[in-house]
Amino acid sequence: MTEASTSGLNLTLAVTGASGAAVGRCALQMLLADPRVGHLNFVVSRHARRVAQEELTVADNVQSAAELAAALAECRPLPAKLRNLDPEDIAANIASGSYASDGMLVAPCSMGTLAAIAHGLSNNLIERAADVCLKERRRLVLAVRESPLSVIHLRNMLAVSEAGGIIFPVMPAFYDAATTPHAAVRQFTSRLLASLGLPQTAAFQWPGGDRT
Ligand SMILES: Cc1cc2nc3c(=O)[nH]c(=O)nc-3n(C[C@H](O)[C@H](O)[C@H](O)COP(=O)(O)O)c2cc1C
Repeated sequence: MTEASTSGLNLTLAVTGASGAAVGRCALQMLLADPRVGHLNFVVSRHARRVAQEELTVADNVQSAAELAAALAECRPLPAKLRNLDPEDIAANIASGSYASDGMLVAPCSMGTLAAIAHGLSNNLIERAADVCLKERRRLVLAVRESPLSVIHLRNMLAVSEAGGIIFPVMPAFYDAATTPHAAVRQFTSRLLASLGLPQTAAFQWPGGDRT
């Protein structure tokens, strides 16, 4: 059975070197646990490993994408549906539009990767796979993170949005009464995955009504 014919969605999660590694970790864990996802391609940029060491106290000796996936997934053995891809392997499956994929999430997405996607540079596997999603009209969600934003950042977001991508800033809501940072990350990631086509029934939903 080929990957493309595996039942369930075939998705890609890329983690880049913006702040917010906890969102990438949460997305990885939720996608691995989700029975609707049949296959998950996972790509981590070199700089994302550095940020994960800083923000998640991932060990300094974690070098390969496979080691980082194991550290972030916090489960062993890793589920068979996870496939680690090398960000420098421009010949990997997701680099081609002929590979049947259902969409891609970049979380968190750095301004550098955003710029490369906005301008179609395709210099590494993450940039190329995102470019493929745009040209094939597949779902592409970028959880961008920077503050404040320059005119260059804003123009690049507009360019990706005009090309069909979804710009979903790492910007948690404050009206769901999340009690811990972990709960806020999980609530934010739930909304993020919903925008990728995976609605989360356990997520907070605004009940409507008024307090008068
Ligand atoms: C601790 C740390 C935090 C960073 N936070 C951000 C950020 O929030 N947004 C951003 O665009 N870049 C951030 N950077 C810079 C990126 O890592 C850098 O631009 C890198 O080249 C991005 O490469 P990548 O997109 O290939 O991962 C951060 C770097 C470090 C070390």
